[in-house]
Amino acid sequence: MTKLLAGGVFILILIVLTHASPSSYFKVLIREIDNPSGTLLDGTPCSPFGFVGYGCNTYLSGGVAVGSELSPTADKIALNSHGETKISNLNLILADPKDNEVTEFTGFNVSLKLTTVDGSVIDQYDFRVDTTDSQGVYVYTSKRQGTLATTISIAWATNIPEASLTTSTPVYTGSTPTPGPTTTAPKLPSDCDEVKNKTSGIQTIYPDGLNPVDVYCEQTTNGAYTVIQSRGTSTNITFDIPYSNYSDWFGEPGIGKNFWMGLDNMNSLSNNGKVYSLQIDICCGTQLRGKQIYHGFKVDTKANLYKLTATADLPGIGLDYSSTFKDIGAPFSTEATYSKPKSKGWWYGSCGNNLNGFLYPSDNANCTVE
Ligand SMILES: *[C@@H]1O[C@H](CO)[C@@H](O)[C@H](O)[C@H]1NC(C)=O
Ligand SMILES: *[C@@H]1O[C@H](CO)[C@@H](O)[C@H](O)[C@H]1NC(C)=O
Ligand SMILES: *[C@@H]1O[C@H](CO)[C@@H](O)[C@H](O)[C@H]1NC(C)=O
Ligand SMILES: *[C@@H]1O[C@H](CO)[C@@H](O)[C@H](O)[C@H]1NC(C)=O
Ligand SMILES: *[C@@H]1O[C@H](CO)[C@@H](O)[C@H](O)[C@H]1NC(C)=O
Repeated sequence: MTKLLAGGVFILILIVLTHASPSSYFKVLIREIDNPSGTLLDGTPCSPFGFVGYGCNTYLSGGVAVGSELSPTADKIALNSHGETKISNLNLILADPKDNEVTEFTGFNVSLKLTTVDGSVIDQYDFRVDTTDSQGVYVYTSKRQGTLATTISIAWATNIPEASLTTSTPVYTGSTPTPGPTTTAPKLPSDCDEVKNKTSGIQTIYPDGLNPVDVYCEQTTNGAYTVIQSRGTSTNITFDIPYSNYSDWFGEPGIGKNFWMGLDNMNSLSNNGKVYSLQIDICCGTQLRGKQIYHGFKVDTKANLYKLTATADLPGIGLDYSSTFKDIGAPFSTEATYSKPKSKGWWYGSCGNNLNGFLYPSDNANCTVE
């Protein structure tokens, strides 16, 4: 994430899940690989310094398959060339290209191969993750001989429904609700999903039901996206503003423009009873470089320092940076409330993700929003 900050245009987007019918996805995040013994599968040291645990220059290839044949072997990826034993923050995402053919999630198979540059096998994994295995990050230990086994840390996410889900009839208790007062006034749109005009572009929404704000709406077949923040070419709009100015919106809505929807608007919107997902698209020019999705996005009240709530679709990256440092759960801060100078406004928990921070413009052509 930090290195992507040196890119170009950043866009923060909300997608309305209540409206969305997302296509199926299945992905496995390879987070970390630790190969501490510095030996090949057959026990041969990778280097003359193998006896001190010097690592092997590691290449990785692999694939994942969900309920079908294993996907074709991925390209060989050079992981390191300096003999480090541990590759943290690898953040490599593998996906099964056939996931759309799968209607029931029954688990998945992973096949990974660590080799040296000449193809000698350092370690190999072919393992299965069942639906009963807990969702999230866990560690797989190789079967390699010796006391220092290779470990690999993975996480996974899918929206394919689990097979043989037992359906239960919901039980309702309590009294019959009294009908509320009828109203004839049309409801003002609180987000881009409720906007009548379904053309992507700038629209007026009323997150608190009363006060208008113009935002960029991206209407897609997956649902309506309300852009809550974007970075772009405008030089007359600065994010270097006092804390209190982040409460209200500023900037210019639109792709390739600098825009902030305002924390009070984000608080009203995310607490209106609907469930929102946050999507962060990181772009360099027109090229989408990275996409992160977080579920259950909520911004707390001003009194609670606009604390950020969300659940990372794939744990351990972006706003969910590490087990100890996360932007999720952090209060909104600026230079005045956070120790780092020139920190601009953000939910500082990890110090690594400030999308409102200094923008290094490169190719500032429009960012394609999916
Ligand atoms: C997936 O793993 C299971 C259990 O190890 C194995 O029986 C099955 O053949 C594997 N499927 C594929 C397609 O490799
Ligand atoms: C719908 O919104 C688009 C984008 O903002 C705008 O160009 C168009 O004029 C709007 N159409 C109507 C009928 O208001
Ligand atoms: C920034 O400049 C653009 C023209 O380049 C102008 O349309 C816009 O109103 C300006 N915004 C502010 C906040 O001054
Ligand atoms: C901050 O907000 C105040 C009150 O709306 C306004 O007067 C001031 O110009 C803003 N400051 C900046 C740097 O935008
Ligand atoms: C970005 O898109 C806007 C609206 O479509 C357009 O006016 C503008 O020229 C585009 N900017 C670039 C750099 O392509």
